[in-house]
Amino acid sequence: MQTVQADITTLALDAIVNAANSSLLGGGGVDGAIHRAAGPGLIEACRSLGGCAVGDAKLTRGFLLRAKFVIHTVGPVWRGGTQNEAGLLASCYRSALELAATHHLRSIAFPGISTGVYGYPPELAAAIAVETVTAALQRHAGIEGVIFCCFSASALQRYQKLLEGS
Ligand code: APR
Repeated sequence: MQTVQADITTLALDAIVNAANSSLLGGGGVDGAIHRAAGPGLIEACRSLGGCAVGDAKLTRGFLLRAKFVIHTVGPVWRGGTQNEAGLLASCYRSALELAATHHLRSIAFPGISTGVYGYPPELAAAIAVETVTAALQRHAGIEGVIFCCFSASALQRYQKLLEGS
């Protein structure tokens, strides 16, 4: 596992993960950036997916992105921590890695799911991300590279600290 500070749409990997909403029809934040970079083919592909439940993940091709595929997942909205937000966030990381393994994808990057518009406290989210991915990689030997793609220096420092300790 690694962490970088970058715009996830620039990463040339097998898959990048999109922090989408349940409609899968685009939005702001990283969802908007991925749709802008992928071009109109992505929204067409998403229309046929019939949405996505919170904690679940669905795959499309990457279209004009450098990444071959996009794994769309829907994170929980932070409601104070009493609505199983932690379990649902962990499920996003687990579902995305299961989907990547099923499709024999070897490299994948995650944004900070739910830590933007959905208001998840970034330090809690990062700890769940690293813990969940660490456990999942024990089951998916075919996944060789996981990148936590940070959009800010503070997020990068947070993940660097967690990865030193893991
Ligand atoms: N590359 C990497 N990370 C990014 C990028 C980018 N181009 N743009 C934003 N981010 C980071 C944000 O800084 C934040 O840390 O992605 C993280 C997730 O933030 P959001 O994109 O707001 O996603 P989320 O909090 O999961 O909210 C999802 O927002 O855009 C809408 O349609 C989306 O309704 C959904 C909701």
